[in-house]
Amino acid sequence: MPRVQGCITPAVRLPPIFLHISLPATLGPGHKAQDDTEFYDMSHIAYVNGRYLPHNSATVHIEDRGYQFADGVYEVALIWNGIPVDYSGHMVRLWRSMDELRMKAPMSPAAMTVVVQEVVRRNLFKTGIVYIQVNRGVAPRAHPFPSGDVKASMVVTAKAFAGSSDAMAEQGAKVVTARDIRWERRDIKSVGLLANALARQGAAEQKAYEALLVKDDGTVTEASASNAWIITADKAIVTHPTTNAILGGITRQTVMKLAKDAGYKVDERPFTLAEAKSAKEVFLTGTTTFVMPISQIDDQPVANGAAGLISLDLRKRYRNYMESLDAATAWNV
Ligand SMILES: Cc1ncc(COP(=O)(O)O)c(C=O)c1O
Repeated sequence: MPRVQGCITPAVRLPPIFLHISLPATLGPGHKAQDDTEFYDMSHIAYVNGRYLPHNSATVHIEDRGYQFADGVYEVALIWNGIPVDYSGHMVRLWRSMDELRMKAPMSPAAMTVVVQEVVRRNLFKTGIVYIQVNRGVAPRAHPFPSGDVKASMVVTAKAFAGSSDAMAEQGAKVVTARDIRWERRDIKSVGLLANALARQGAAEQKAYEALLVKDDGTVTEASASNAWIITADKAIVTHPTTNAILGGITRQTVMKLAKDAGYKVDERPFTLAEAKSAKEVFLTGTTTFVMPISQIDDQPVANGAAGLISLDLRKRYRNYMESLDAATAWNV
C-alpha cells in the first residue's frame, strides 16, 4: 500500500504537546538569507537504537564512541515531494564509510530503509531531509576498538527542509575561504566535522553562504558541506577528483552525469583558489545545496558578480532530475 505523507495515521499517537506546536510545512523557496540554516525545522520523531521517540527525549549513551571519539559515520539524503533523491547512492556511501572504518553495520540496507521510511513518514513532511548516523557502539572509553560483540548504534532523524533557495541562486551566493585543516580521510563521511564547523562558522560570521576549503599549496578541495566547481574561460567544468582529499558527493556524481549528458566538457582535476577567483563561473553542489552559483569569493566578485548562466542551467537540470524520480524505484537499495 502506498504510504500517505502529510497526515497522522492511527498508528502514530503523538503526545499532547504536539497538539500545541505547528507541524512542519513544506517550505517554499524565495528568501534572501545567505545562510540556509533558517530553513531547518524541528525533527519531531527520531529513531534511536530500535525505538521511535519524540525528538526532545531521544538520547544516546554517554559512552557511545560517536560521542567520545567521533567514531561514527552519517548520511543526509533529500526527500523531494515524498521521493528520496539518489537514496541508493547515499546507502552505498554509508556502507563504504563503515567498511573503511571497519565498522559493522547495525542492520541490512533493506532493514535500514524500512526505518528511514518510517522516520520520514512519522515526521509528516513532503520535502525535507533525513539524517542517518551509525556509531561503532557503546563501550568503556578506550582508544582501541571495543573487543567482543558491541553493536553499532544508530540514529535517524528527519525534518522539513526546502533546500537552497532559488532567489539566492539567481543572485549567486557569497563564499569565503578557509584553510583546509581536516584529516586525510575526507572521503569517509565521518561525524568528525569540527574543522568543517569552524570553517562554516567563519562563513556565517562574514554573512557568507559557504566556506571554500583551501590547502596550503593553494588547491581548493571542496567547501565545508558541499563540493566546489569552477568553469574555465573555455567552458570546461572543473572539480576536484574523488581522492581522499574530498568527500565524493552524491550530488557531484549526479550533476557530473547531467553535465556530460548535456554536452558540457567536465574535467576532474584539482584547481587553485587563484583559478577560482579568475574563473568564468564558480558553483557548489550538495544534497541541500543542489547547484548553487557563486558570485563572490571573499571580497572579490566572480566574473561580473552575477550568477553564472551554465551554473543556473545545471541547477535547472538538477531540479528537473529531482522532479523526474520515480517513487516506485527511488527507495531501492
Ligand atoms: C565536506 C562535504 N563535501 C561535499 C558534500 C556534498 O555531498 P552530497 O552531494 O553527497 O551531499 C558534503 C555534504 O554534506 C560535505 O559535507
